[in-house]
Amino acid sequence: MQAANRKPLTLIDLNKMKQENIKISCLTAYDASFSALLDHVGIDILLVGDSLGMTIQGHSSTLPVSLVDMIYHTRCVNRTRKRSFLIADLPFMTYPTPLVAAKNAMQLIQQGAQMVKLEGLKLDIIRFIIDQGIPVCGHLGLLPQSINQLGSYAVQGKTAADAEALLTAALALEAEGVSLLVLECVPAQLAKTITAQLNIPVIGIGAGIDCDGQVLVLYDLLNISIKKTPKFSHNFLQETHSIEQAVANYHNAVKNREFPTPEHSFYN
Ligand code: KIV
Repeated sequence: MQAANRKPLTLIDLNKMKQENIKISCLTAYDASFSALLDHVGIDILLVGDSLGMTIQGHSSTLPVSLVDMIYHTRCVNRTRKRSFLIADLPFMTYPTPLVAAKNAMQLIQQGAQMVKLEGLKLDIIRFIIDQGIPVCGHLGLLPQSINQLGSYAVQGKTAADAEALLTAALALEAEGVSLLVLECVPAQLAKTITAQLNIPVIGIGAGIDCDGQVLVLYDLLNISIKKTPKFSHNFLQETHSIEQAVANYHNAVKNREFPTPEHSFYN
């Protein structure tokens, strides 16, 4: 990464990338060392995801993750990043009402997060957080915090009715003011349609090549996750012996539209 390109990224830069058709690279980060490495390689967005419940804490879902956990990891990641944009997840049951959500979002923002992410179509809650001056990233498709309702981590939006509902939800989130959208585990064609219809950047995970950017769980990319890595991920460490090179290969593959391939995508 050139010194001239090391200016800290803002939301304006991410929107410009969408307009200029430049793919956005995103990875989860949970600690200071990986934050520094990912930032150095040039990853555009670091996501302190509540997937840390699985990767760091060894739980079988994201549900046990607390706000205190997220505050701690956001602080660690923020300390060593220079350029990458920082998003932190609001964990399970930390956004039950607009006021509670905004107060909890504030705590992540005060640790250095530039945006908070929350799952689902919680329009009144999202509006209230945004009204306090806090940018929000939406998250649609597979919602891991709803695993007990879903019953499995399956692909979402496969029927025509479910696809229509997802498109409507995405448009509603944008109308409510979300600045970014994560689309998880949806058919590639649906993700393409949603990405084309929204003005905000759409970041996919298991959502095909046509999203504006891609995100992966860092430990899946390095093939060190405790659970079996999902079909939509790829072991970037198998082609190199260096973690830094593996992350760089992921970054370049996203930028050059070489990842994800159809093999990492879902179709109807
Ligand atoms: O928690 C997380 O890591 C996430 C990504 C899977 C998008 O939300």
